[in-house]
Amino acid sequence: MKITIIGTGYVGLVTGACLAELGNDVFCLDLDAQKVALLNSGGIPIHEPGLEEVVARNRAAGRMTFSTDVEAAANHGAMQFIAVGTPPDEDGSADLQYVLAAARGIGKYMTDFKVIVDKSTVPVGTAEKVRAAIQGELDARGVAATFSVASNPEFLKEGAAVEDFMRPDRIVIGVDATPDGERARELLKSLYAPFNRNHERTYWMDVRSAEFTKYAANAMLATRISFMNELANLADKVGVDIEAVRHGIGSDPRIGHSFLYAGCGYGGSCFPKDVQALERTARGHGQELLILRAVEAVNDRQKQVLGGKVVTRFGEDLTGRHFAVWGLAFKPNTDDMREASARVLLADLLKRGATVAVYDPVAMAEARRVLQLDLTPEQLAKVRFADSPLDALTDADALAIVTEWKAFRSPDFAQIKARLKQAVIFDGRNLFEPAVMAETGIEYHGIGRSILTRA
Ligand code: UDX
Repeated sequence: MKITIIGTGYVGLVTGACLAELGNDVFCLDLDAQKVALLNSGGIPIHEPGLEEVVARNRAAGRMTFSTDVEAAANHGAMQFIAVGTPPDEDGSADLQYVLAAARGIGKYMTDFKVIVDKSTVPVGTAEKVRAAIQGELDARGVAATFSVASNPEFLKEGAAVEDFMRPDRIVIGVDATPDGERARELLKSLYAPFNRNHERTYWMDVRSAEFTKYAANAMLATRISFMNELANLADKVGVDIEAVRHGIGSDPRIGHSFLYAGCGYGGSCFPKDVQALERTARGHGQELLILRAVEAVNDRQKQVLGGKVVTRFGEDLTGRHFAVWGLAFKPNTDDMREASARVLLADLLKRGATVAVYDPVAMAEARRVLQLDLTPEQLAKVRFADSPLDALTDADALAIVTEWKAFRSPDFAQIKARLKQAVIFDGRNLFEPAVMAETGIEYHGIGRSILTRA
């Protein structure tokens, strides 16, 4: 099938590459000429395991084209996927300017029936705005072509996006109950048929419910994390091990084991933005989402928990202190630092006069970029970008772990002890067992694990 993907960001590129891998003829449109040039020369603008190989293979096979040509894009695909960014507005609602510009681009040039598929995370009612934008262009040109707008939100996790796309646990598609909506359903059904061979994974619904489903999923997951983080903070006060509690409750199938890990807060491009946008939608309809307001507030506070533990241990004034920080990305297997907890910790330590040495397996270049935005030049001068985890430790008063990279999970504790000035670890992701740490002689501060570190 001929597919057009508008937007070669994270979602668009993964979707385009995976649809090409299934044998489709995929045209990727992006208005950023530099990015298109990079993609056409075999480069990849993001770090995502497996993506580079899939793109290279399908480019070589002629199934993936990258271009800035809006007209060619509109003419290529019978299905036009909109996968552009929806950054938060000043008030937290999703900014739809790129989505609507993409829609107008389609309307300006389309000549025959098209299915427009909203892949971007967009608030309820966006499909109607997309429809109006396209119709407006068609009317202006006096063209009578028909089209249908469907909603097909993505549930990809960064770091596992190719795998998630290729082995989806569900495919959510919203289509209109109209003859054109029926045509959209048939086209999407055959596009996704390879995923439904063994059992049906597609959930068909109306467009608004599909749009809402994406927000509901992310809000629910963010809620679980903030809930566990709040319990973990209490666990620290009352001498309870949150990890034991996690096992104890997760074994109840109504609760389940996933997404119950207490830590130093969630980040990334989705949870913070989507929770805010859903709250904003509710407010626009005169409803206050009290739970989500708390989810957000708890997360903001949780990002400060590691800094708080450092202060409790070393005092408010950290002048003359030096800390090693392992992990900068908001989670492992990505270089994405959007809303990353490490940014909050670093700002806090530096503000209090400390110096730091940081290390991340892939996010070092991205860290240099974002820390320039977060910090003053004087603060930035106090950050050393280390060459390895061990290198970061040299002469540090303590080690803080912010991202649960596999490479940090089984370190040589004797080496850590030897390199640190003081054998202290603040573990924002509960990577180690406090009982094991006690044997190493390293002072260990996890999240919600105080029962084992109090004695
Ligand atoms: C999320 C959703 O999982 C995905 O379905 C959606 O399409 C986009 O948003 P992503 O942002 O890539 O994906 O990351 P995810 O793996 O969900 O983790 C988000 C954040 O939550 C990370 O900062 C992670 O460290 C944190 N987290 C996750 C916890 O603190 N505890 C947990 O138990 C799980």
